[in-house]
This record gives sequence, C-alpha cells and structure tokens, in this order.
Amino acid sequence: MSEIPAHNHENRMAKDQLSPIPVCPRSRPEDERKSDAAAQAGMPDLSAKQLFRIEEFDLARQLLRSGAVRQAGFRAELLERFTGRAHAPVLFQDGEAHQKQRSATARFFAPKVVATRYRELMQSLSNRLVERFRLAGHAELDAMSLELAVAVAAEIVGLTESAQSGMAERLNRFFATTGSQQGWLSALMGFAAGQVRMLAFYWRDVRPAIRARRAARREDVISHLLDQGYSDREILTECLTYGAAGMATTREFVVMSAWHLLEREDLRRRFLSGDEPLRLALLEEILRLEPVVGALYRRTERQLTLDGDGGSTTIPAGTLVKIDVRATNTNPVAAGSCPLQLDADRVMGASKASASLMSFGDGPHRCPGASVALQETAIFLDRLLRVPNVHLTRPPRVGWNPLTSSYELRGALIAT
Ligand code: HEM
Repeated sequence: MSEIPAHNHENRMAKDQLSPIPVCPRSRPEDERKSDAAAQAGMPDLSAKQLFRIEEFDLARQLLRSGAVRQAGFRAELLERFTGRAHAPVLFQDGEAHQKQRSATARFFAPKVVATRYRELMQSLSNRLVERFRLAGHAELDAMSLELAVAVAAEIVGLTESAQSGMAERLNRFFATTGSQQGWLSALMGFAAGQVRMLAFYWRDVRPAIRARRAARREDVISHLLDQGYSDREILTECLTYGAAGMATTREFVVMSAWHLLEREDLRRRFLSGDEPLRLALLEEILRLEPVVGALYRRTERQLTLDGDGGSTTIPAGTLVKIDVRATNTNPVAAGSCPLQLDADRVMGASKASASLMSFGDGPHRCPGASVALQETAIFLDRLLRVPNVHLTRPPRVGWNPLTSSYELRGALIAT
C-alpha cells in the first residue's frame, strides 16, 4: 500500500499552513459523497452508553495497533458464542493465532504474486468483460464488477472448480439475505433462506474445490487450510469470509469509482492520461471519501489510554469501541483541507498514512487484499473508460448494509 513517508515534511508544512477556513472549489458541491444519505439513514444508532466512538484518525490508529483489543465487528461476538475461536475465520481471530494465520497466508498477497499471477487474470478478465460490453452497447455495471471481484478473489481462495457466473449469483443471493431484517418473523425467514443459500454455495462451489485439493494441493487459501486441519465446515466459513471481505467490498468499490469517474470529466482525463501509480492514488482518494466499510468495531481487553490532539483519553476494559471510518477519513486534521471533496492532488494532514486513510483498516487486521482490490479496479476501469462514448444511462440506487456498515450500489446502467 502506498504509505507516504517521503512526503511527511511536506504534509506537516501543508497542515501548518492551512488557513482556518479553507477555500474549497465553489464550482463543485461542498460535499461530494454519493453514499452519505444512505449512511445517515442506515448507520445503527447505538446509544453513547453502549459504546465509545472514535472519529479521529490518529486515535483510531493507536487503538487498532494497541494489541489490547479484540475484533467485535461483523457480529464476531455472536459468532464466537456458536463456534468458539479455534479455526475461526481469520477476520474473527485475535492475538497469536491470528498473527500466525496472517503470516502463513501472506504469500498469497505478496506484491510479486499479485503482479504476476493475479495481474494476468485481472487483465484478461477486464478485456473480456469490456469487449462484451462494447459489442452489446450496454451493460449493468454492478453485474460486471461482481464478476470481476468474484473471479479474482476465487483464484486466491481456490474456488476454481465451478462455473464462476453461477458462483457469483449464489454468493450474491446469500449476501442479499444477510442484511437487516425487521421483526422476528422476517429475521427467522431471512435466516432460513440464508442457510439454504449457504448450502448451495457449499455443494456447488466449496465442496468440489476441497475435493480437488485433497487430491492435490495447490497454491491457494483452501490448500493451506487443509494443511492446517480445518474441517469442511470451517473452510466454508472462511470462504464466506473472503466472499464478504474480498468480493462484496471490491464489487461496491468498482461501481463507486466508475460512478465518480464517469461523472467528472476532469478526473476521468487525469485517470486515463496518468501512469498506474497516479491511477491507484486517485482510486485511494475515492475510497477515502467513500469507504466501503464505514465502521470498525473492537472490544478493549484492558484499560487503554490514547493520546489525541485534545489531550489523552482513557477507555475502560471491556468497552465496545466504534471506529467511525466515514468520520476519521473526512476529519480535516487527517485528510487536509476540503475533506468532503474529491481532490486528485490532496495533501494529507496525517503522517505516514495511506491515501485511503482508514478504508482498509489498520493494525493486525488491516486488509491483506488492499493492493489486489486497487489493482483490479485500476485495470478494469482503465479498459472500461477508454471505450468511446461510454456513459452512465442510469446511476445506481444507493442502499445500506448494516452488517458491514457498507453502501450497496445496484442497477447502474452504462452504454456506448
Ligand atoms: C475495496 C475493496 C476492499 C475493502 C474496502 C476492504 C476492506 C477491509 C477492511 C476495512 C478490513 C479490516 C476489518 C477490520 O479491521 O475489522 C479488511 C479485512 C480483510 N480483507 Fe479486505 N477489503 C477489500 C478487498 C479485499 C480483497 C480483494 C480481499 C481478498 C481477496 C480481502 C480480504 C480480506 C481479509 C481476508 C480480511 C481479514 C483480515 C484479518 O482479519 O486479518 N479484502 N478488508
């Protein structure tokens, strides 16, 4: 990920020189976020008594790196009551077991592996998807992005024994039942539907992949889990975690990036005329402004003192902490001036921070797939935005998934 130590001095100076009331370009809306209304409506309203809220980037980073917190997001505490933490998915592990699992799987995400094995796949897949769109003259953007995200993550995980379009559809249906249901009856029906869809994913996609790897191991996550003695059920849970963490997230990010770039001609021109580092930086700026994972949750294992701009803050042991990523990323201390606008030349306030700030998390759980997601998005959009006369004929509907604190973009149509 592009850390920016080389610019520290510059950033510090820029921060010191900020005028108290920054002048933002008047030609553009003051708040350019497309996901904000859905987030305002959808973010759970936990009372201040129940949790400690962090909105400053620096405090969030200290907390996540402290070694004194456990994962408490994505219903981790509920899951633990049913499954325990032995062989839990990596997202739900903590401490030494988690660290071991991350080191053992780091090879699947190493820059060299991404740059060779997965990059070829990203290129050929993007060419195929864009060619299909070009010939048809129209397409549904989120269907394209789902296909891309599923194929790339499936290769890393080892879900390669089934037809990918069917798998994308099965995962899509499964995730559609894991959102919020109002009332016990619809929650129960949602749960039952979720179980059926999970079984379909297991029988059609996961089980054949496990069988093939029992016969001959390959260089992927499922082979690694088999070596570690994971049961079929545990492998299924890990595959669903990658499905949510890697596929569902990237799918939304591709659509959000395309939406901004299709609407802003100046950005699109910059994106297409720049080299890959510039394209990646622009995508990270979009992700900063529109984080796919809008909040991270942790529980403190011991009392913790964090040092912030306004003095130190002590959080008691056992506290549920919400890191409001949407807030940390748009706080002017970290993001610099005009934090609610998209700025291809943004000068960060935070030092040694990636350009997407907290959007890939931080500390031991920081997203291992960050550069995979950014590269596949850059490659795909580079192909798509070069199609002559490509434009949005219908922008996406913006929904909200409370489980992942994420926006969901559906129904965007593009045409030539
Ligand atoms: C734009 C796309 C993506 C976004 C915004 C994203 C975001 C995140 C965030 C915020 C976390 C940390 C969660 C926490 O700390 O509680 C995370 C973890 C994770 N991500 Fe991603 N992710 C993306 C793409 C991917 C991809 C492509 C993969 C794999 C193919 C992936 C695999 C994972 C895994 C396995 C974890 C759990 C890591 C752990 O707990 O140690 N992600 N992701």
